[in-house]
Amino acid sequence: MEIRPIIWRDDAVVLIDQNALPLQERELLCREYGEVVAAIKDLTVRGAPAIGIAAAFGIALGARRLDHLPAGRIRAGFFKICDDFARSRPTARNLFWAIERMGRRFDAAAAEGTAGVGDALLAEARAILEEDVAANRRMGRFGSPFLRDGDAVLTHCNAGALATGGYGTALGVIRAAHEEGKRISVFVDETRPVLQGARLTAWELRKEGIPFTLIADNMAGTLMKQGRIQLVIVGADRIAANGDTANKIGTYPLAVLARAHGIPFYVAAPLSTIDLSLGSGDEIPIEERNPEEILSLRGVRIAEEGIDVYNPAFDVTPASLVTAIITEVGVANPPSDSALRELCSRGLSR
Ligand code: MRU
Repeated sequence: MEIRPIIWRDDAVVLIDQNALPLQERELLCREYGEVVAAIKDLTVRGAPAIGIAAAFGIALGARRLDHLPAGRIRAGFFKICDDFARSRPTARNLFWAIERMGRRFDAAAAEGTAGVGDALLAEARAILEEDVAANRRMGRFGSPFLRDGDAVLTHCNAGALATGGYGTALGVIRAAHEEGKRISVFVDETRPVLQGARLTAWELRKEGIPFTLIADNMAGTLMKQGRIQLVIVGADRIAANGDTANKIGTYPLAVLARAHGIPFYVAAPLSTIDLSLGSGDEIPIEERNPEEILSLRGVRIAEEGIDVYNPAFDVTPASLVTAIITEVGVANPPSDSALRELCSRGLSR
């Protein structure tokens, strides 16, 4: 069964509850847009493309409740909904990309009269979802040649079906190579503090029958030194114009380790993750999350209360450490301002 973390069913946004995985496979049904905002904040739905898609459906959900209001109030209500989503998490470019796209669809639909705005927005959210899945499959085809038969690949966090509309970005490339019959094995970083690797990537790979080994985050260097990892592939939350890449905290040290061991380091991400308005990664807003994520492990307190905690959710890997960025329209190899701009213009002309 294909993993689809966000669907529209019976006038509601239905999410796979990623906080419950892997121990429980259950859904969260959102009938109000505020429930989708809350689900993004508390990581029920997470991963940059999935956050954007959930917001698109959430905006459609909220806007459909406004349909009976006079035109001026529908517009004000729509912008309030968008604003609530924009404040949910700051780093993933895909969130803001999706909100902007929903805004353009709102303007186009409202210009024809406000009666059909809710339906138009729902159609746009559905299009964003299906385009994301198709983009991931194309990304898989562009990325799989980098994986050779017998390779062991290291990945961090979860950049799989759960983090997208379906299929995944970094995990999509691994899936594609596996589907082509290559014998690929995966080392999965557990990904402290909230363990997206141990809980989510391991769950997906197991379902798919792709061989993998779970490791703690501090073990990658030893495995590289032992020659047991041939390449690293990760996803991205935001990529600046020069190729600097924000991804889950712990990605940057992996890139440093990969360079020290002469191992290629790939980023797989859709064009909706690229932010050409930012010259470098220094400008990417990095989310800081609740200290409780560090003080506790899955609800069990492991450190004393009242101590200082620093909990950035993402780090930035400089483009100089990235071998190539794999997108749905081609590969920036190596990443550069001109290569990324060229890919983005190719995307626009599709
Ligand atoms: O905090 P999260 O779980 O939303 O962080 C997710 C990541 O860092 C992923 O690697 C990234 O969003 C790419 S997902 C295709």
